[in-house]
Amino acid sequence: IRAPRDARPQFESPRVGLMAILKVAKLGNPVIRKPTEAVPKETIGSPELQRLIADMIDTMHEYEGVGLAAPQVHVSKQLAVIEAKEPVHGDKPIPLTVLINPRILGMGKAVDADWEGCLSVNDLRGQVPRAAWVDVETFNRKGERIKIHAEGFFARVIQHECDHLAGKVFLDRMQDLSTLTHLKEMARFRHGE
Ligand code: NI
Repeated sequence: IRAPRDARPQFESPRVGLMAILKVAKLGNPVIRKPTEAVPKETIGSPELQRLIADMIDTMHEYEGVGLAAPQVHVSKQLAVIEAKEPVHGDKPIPLTVLINPRILGMGKAVDADWEGCLSVNDLRGQVPRAAWVDVETFNRKGERIKIHAEGFFARVIQHECDHLAGKVFLDRMQDLSTLTHLKEMARFRHGE
């Protein structure tokens, strides 16, 4: 899937001095709709997977996303990265989080609707109902099995990214398509939402 690295010698950290912005697959590319495969646990520490994680983080930052799932960079694996350095929608910032083979263990019955967009769906925002909290079990980037309890915007982003791993996008979760809005029109007509 990814071009082999060049023939320079392998150092302990293959990251040193290197970064790559990956090409983002858009809606319509079959990889966005294909359910992903689990990452074999023993490969989590491999230079290839660690490099993919680092490149996905760089790509998320480059395009000012708060989450990015592997199928969005043409890799059909259960892997996603999440981070919000600034508070979004008045909620807390989200620390850098790497999800590998995540499983949602439970979610709140209470549902909130709020705006979502997606790097694979250019320039559109829509109101999406999501559970107000989720409990997730996942491997982190060190290959440790961890549990995360997330609320508010963090819970929303986790649900959005886990959907990507199942071949779903936020449009599938919208209950009222009439809220679908181009970013430019949102700035004009829905300022402050
Ligand atoms: Ni997305």
